[in-house]
Amino acid sequence: MRFIGNKESLVEIIDRFMKKSNIGGKSLFDFFSGTVSVGRFFKRKGWTVFSSDLLYFSYCLQKAYIENNSIPNFEKLLPRLNYKSLDLFASPLDTVIEYLNTLPGKKGFVFFNFTPEGTQSLQISRKYFSSENGKKIDAVRMQIEEWRTEGLIDENEYFILLAVLIESVPFYANISGVFAAFQKKWDPRALKPFCLRKIEVYEGKYQNKAYHKDSLSLLSSVSADVFYIDPPYNERQYAPNYHVLETIAKYDNPVLKGVTGMRDYSGQKSDFCNKEKAQKCLEKILTEAQCSSIVLSYNSEGLLHKDEIISKMSFFGNVDFYDIPYSRFCSNINTKKCNVSEYLFILKK
Ligand SMILES: C[S@@+](CC[C@H](N)C(=O)[O-])C[C@H]1O[C@@H](n2cnc3c(N)ncnc32)[C@H](O)[C@@H]1O
Repeated sequence: MRFIGNKESLVEIIDRFMKKSNIGGKSLFDFFSGTVSVGRFFKRKGWTVFSSDLLYFSYCLQKAYIENNSIPNFEKLLPRLNYKSLDLFASPLDTVIEYLNTLPGKKGFVFFNFTPEGTQSLQISRKYFSSENGKKIDAVRMQIEEWRTEGLIDENEYFILLAVLIESVPFYANISGVFAAFQKKWDPRALKPFCLRKIEVYEGKYQNKAYHKDSLSLLSSVSADVFYIDPPYNERQYAPNYHVLETIAKYDNPVLKGVTGMRDYSGQKSDFCNKEKAQKCLEKILTEAQCSSIVLSYNSEGLLHKDEIISKMSFFGNVDFYDIPYSRFCSNINTKKCNVSEYLFILKK
């Protein structure tokens, strides 16, 4: 998924540097889990994983990929659906996804708040999704909720289907990267007919646990060999940048405000988006984390300076520092590339 700070493409490098620093273990706490790419990687390697995030849609992904340990068989739902996949090798999950893709669109919260037809009475109508795709997303979201209410799917199956929806929606959104605002002109991507995509869920032997909490509140209750800390590094809060995904995941009919249709996110502000508060939070994590190693990802353009982080960490043990350079397009100088670094700090307590 396109998500600011997604470590999917970096997790192998992080793992390599952990090995280089002799960091081993059997359990990991993905402390700011976002898309859960790091937690997923370590679960696949056979570690026990704990994960947490302030965002509810991240929690749905965590429940599906981390806490759930089985491949769903939809044993109650499938006999009721009376639907046969055309694909002989379709798994139960593939069949349910295929069925959901056949549903006719329905006018619901997404249609009435995030599509041009549904918001035509507003001064500026909202163009997050085409009207047809908005109705499709509503139909799928309502169906998942109905099956859960009727007891036709269990908790794991419920979160797996929500994860399928959450992972699919960004491919049809008329946005440039984040959901903070919609684009005025249609991106051709957003005009393609909405279709759910398959996801991979992982079996596991261990009792993994997902949390939808301020992770700092878990410091006294969760212990693991390694804490992987990947906080926001600038003043940009995550919740307003992903508010549409949050609303689709919760489907809680929130009051929306302004041209962009933002939901209230006052309870989801991260202290890491403020320099002074971030310094205090980092100290609290370093002092209270119940683990033998802390692996911290940060960015060279972040609010905290690398020397400050190394100095704070060194108080608690040995620190290794790795600099992973990469190029990205600068937002202010159109086509020019900026050289920035992804930093990795590894503390052995
Ligand atoms: C840089 S992103 C993490 C990216 C993640 N490692 C990935 O690969 O997708 C930071 C995440 O921290 C979450 N966050 C920020 N402050 C938090 C807090 N106090 N408690 C829990 N989650 C928090 C944000 O919602 C966001 O998802």
